[in-house]
Amino acid sequence: MKSSLRSRQEPRRVSNAVIIGAMLLSLCVLSIVKARYCATPFAAGKAEDQLQEQMNSSIRMETEEESPARTSGEEEDDEEEEATSAAPAAKVVAAAGGGGRKGKPTCYMTSKRSERCDVSGDIRVDGNRSAIYVSGIDREWKTKPYARYHDPVAMEHVRQYTLKPLLDTTSAAPACTKNHSVPGFLFSNGGFSGNLYHDYTDVLVPLFISTHQFKRRVQFLLSGMKPWWVVKFTPFFRQLTRFDVIDVDNDREVHCFPRLVVGATFHKDMGVIPAKSPGHVSVVDFKRALRAAFGLEREAASRRGGAPGTNGKPRLLIISRRNSRRFLNEREMASAAAAAGFDVRVAEPDQHTDMATFAKLVNSADVMIGVHGAGLTNMVFLPRGAVLIQVVPFGGLEWLTGVTFKDPAADMEVNYMDYNVKLDESSLIDQYPRNHPVLTDPYAIHKQGWDALKAAYLDKQNIRMDLDRFRATLQEALNRLP
Ligand SMILES: *[C@@H]1O[C@H](CO)[C@@H](O)[C@H](O)[C@H]1NC(C)=O
Ligand SMILES: *[C@@H]1O[C@H](CO)[C@@H](O)[C@H](O)[C@H]1NC(C)=O
Ligand SMILES: *[C@@H]1O[C@H](CO)[C@@H](O)[C@H](O)[C@H]1NC(C)=O
Repeated sequence: MKSSLRSRQEPRRVSNAVIIGAMLLSLCVLSIVKARYCATPFAAGKAEDQLQEQMNSSIRMETEEESPARTSGEEEDDEEEEATSAAPAAKVVAAAGGGGRKGKPTCYMTSKRSERCDVSGDIRVDGNRSAIYVSGIDREWKTKPYARYHDPVAMEHVRQYTLKPLLDTTSAAPACTKNHSVPGFLFSNGGFSGNLYHDYTDVLVPLFISTHQFKRRVQFLLSGMKPWWVVKFTPFFRQLTRFDVIDVDNDREVHCFPRLVVGATFHKDMGVIPAKSPGHVSVVDFKRALRAAFGLEREAASRRGGAPGTNGKPRLLIISRRNSRRFLNEREMASAAAAAGFDVRVAEPDQHTDMATFAKLVNSADVMIGVHGAGLTNMVFLPRGAVLIQVVPFGGLEWLTGVTFKDPAADMEVNYMDYNVKLDESSLIDQYPRNHPVLTDPYAIHKQGWDALKAAYLDKQNIRMDLDRFRATLQEALNRLP
């Protein structure tokens, strides 16, 4: 009797597990749009060292791109000329071994993060079939134009394009229905884009590195196009191209180009390496393009403020979060800051926030503070010399908060400060017994893998700032302001 009961319950338990698993998975998929931490670059069960190594490797550059004979800057300067050259087809003929440029293969990794394919000649893009027909190549190349190759979860959500040899013009290749005289640039806003951090690190900064040298004479082809996403960043695209973005997956036309680049060049997280970029541009030039795009007037921060309505006070912007990693005493923080002489604003950006409005608010700030999370990406709008205070949740997360915001800040001319949350400021202290490993041994939790780390320290932790420490931090921020 007992055993038959058990055997009847067993399948139900299994199917419950399947249902719960499916629910978790779909939740995960849903929140990819919003939460960068849902899916991760890390496989479960990795040790801390491997975690770090993986994180490190994502910012480690490969040298393939550089030719020893000349500086890579010069090399890329040549591309500028080619971009406007009227007769690129000859180069394909000259290149040996299947359509590579200057001995480069047609497609190559610009780093562990991104593959770039660069072709010239007779090029026909059939978006509906994810096919690109190219004269002068002798084999197929498959590629995904999104800068997160080391992250299979992200890449699952990126459509693959195939470059196919166009052997003779009477073959199966479709006829051009739209001829373009400028180069095309194909990229994707699949993956994790929609999350502000990923928008910048995976898409917008690489896009800038890869296309600013065309001086707006380039046609963007966007795969996985989310219309709201395009609307959000259109003012920025306008800095890079004079043409409307084409929704390439759904377009019925066969677009033809004299040259096409598929996939961006990636340098480092939210950063540009000037020595490797055409015209030696830096992330400051990227910021300048953003400023122009969103009409941001303030160039430099000041301890005397300067944004309209601040009455000579420096402005503090507190980046608020609603769901996880909340400030539990945000109001007290705001009062303390006001008493310390700041003009205080509290705001929470989400994916529906109007970019231009929010960018202006951030640009009006002299000091910005927030708990580690995508909202801090807004530092791209801070004026030069502004202070960014990243509140690092309890849990030994410095390696993560370093790569994501601390390291990029310096190049962006942002003055960076950490605020490391102490255990007695963390809600974790109420959630676990004092001798629990989550409190006593964060690295043991890291060793259980990303999911465990995320669950313990990122999803369920809120922060009650020690107001004395907070005041002292604000004072230091003030001292650092120009
Ligand atoms: C990761 O990078 C940091 C800083 O560059 C370095 O100190 C650390 O040893 C690296 N860790 C691994 C596992 O490579
Ligand atoms: C290609 O176009 C056809 C209709 O012309 C459509 O039914 C199909 O879904 C499209 N395929 C893709 C992958 O967009
Ligand atoms: C595009 O250019 C090709 C080659 O010059 C020409 O044969 C074709 O008719 C053009 N197509 C359109 C739609 O203009």
